[in-house]
This record gives sequence, C-alpha cells and structure tokens, in this order.
Amino acid sequence: MTALVIAVDGPAAAGKGTLARRLAAHFGLPYLDTGLLYRAVGRRVLDGEGDPRDAGVAEAAALGLRGEDVQRPDLRGAAADEAASQVAAHGGVRRALVAFQRGFAAGGGAVLDGRDIGTVIFPDARVKLYVTASAEARARRRWLEVSARDPAVTLAAVAAEMAARDARDAGRDAAPMKPAADAVVLDTTALDAEAAFGAAVAVVVGKLAGG
Ligand code: DC
Repeated sequence: MTALVIAVDGPAAAGKGTLARRLAAHFGLPYLDTGLLYRAVGRRVLDGEGDPRDAGVAEAAALGLRGEDVQRPDLRGAAADEAASQVAAHGGVRRALVAFQRGFAAGGGAVLDGRDIGTVIFPDARVKLYVTASAEARARRRWLEVSARDPAVTLAAVAAEMAARDARDAGRDAAPMKPAADAVVLDTTALDAEAAFGAAVAVVVGKLAGG
C-alpha cells in the first residue's frame, strides 16, 4: 500500500488551507502549505530590492531558500500575494521547489495544498481535491479577513487583486493552476467550513475504499 498523499489544489480564498489542515489532523498526516514556499521566495526577492518578474533573480532566491524563510511573519498581505504569484510563474523557481515538496510526503504521506500538487508534484496522489468557489464568494471572504486588519481596504480592490492573481496563476506556461483530470472538484460557494470538511472527508473515505 503506497503512502496516502492528499493533494488539495485551487484558487485563492476557496477555503483550501483550512480544509487541508483539518484533513491532515483528521487522517493523522503532516500538512504542507506550499503557497508559503512561493511567498517566502517572493519575500527574499523583495528584500534584495529585486523584481519578482525577473526569472534569474527569482530562481536564485528559490535555490537559496532556508527553513526560517517560510516562518517569517510577513508572508501574507497584498505585496506578498503579488510577489508569490509572480515568482511562481518561473519554471526555474518551480523546479527548485519540487524535491522539497516530494520529500515532505516521502515515507508517511501528507496533505499538501497549492496549485499544481495533483497535476505536477504528485500526479499519482491517491486523493486529489480541487477546491473552488465563485470569484464573488472568494473575494468577499478574503475582504472580510483583510478588512478586520485594515478597514480602508475595499471589496472592489480585493476582488481586482484576486482576479489578476488567478489569471496569472491559471495562465502561466509553467504548471498552470487547473484541476487534474482525476481530481474531485469541491465548490464551496454555498458551503461553510464544516460542510466543506464533511464533503472532503467523504471524498477521501470513498477513494480509500476504492472509489
Ligand atoms: O496558496 P497561496 O495563495 O498562499 O499561494 C500564493 C501564490 O503562490 C499563488 O498566487 C500562486 C503560487 N503558488 C503556486 O504557483 N503553486 C503552488 N503549489 C502554491 C502556490
């Protein structure tokens, strides 16, 4: 029996992080938020006053990534979102991060969330979920989060940033965001976190039973 790898992909603010973390706890697996890797690479580029759109600079930052980089407190927010999405478009950056992601699940399995886990990192994962929601629902969720910290941020601004990031993540040549052919698509537009978790557990249990 091969180790259980659960791939959770999907666009920003679809609820995949919360879901992936809960699945990991439920099935006793380690959890990796792969977006943090791209966020940390983006931060390193910004620290050096480089341009995240520059492939050479971004790849050097990815090759030099250290454990403490992914524990930085400044990996969230609009600037980090944008830089992460920009560095993630470079094939060299993505290649530099493959071995770490595969190694994370080696042996005991894992739950990983990202954009290309089911398509590129673990094409043979036993369970693949593609978690999505309407653009409006995702923008509203992210805005509720962000506006609690910064009341000046408008819903329209959050929606525009998210649309630009989705378009870049889905439109790039290197490992574009898309559901794997054998992924189960879970649309959380009308689901709260509890209902989404219940649906995801049912998918995993069904797959483990041979479905
Ligand atoms: O999941 P997240 O929002 O933290 O990801 C931040 C950015 O990183 C996202 O816009 C695209 C990129 N990313 C990626 O290309 N592949 C992954 N597996 C995870 C994230």
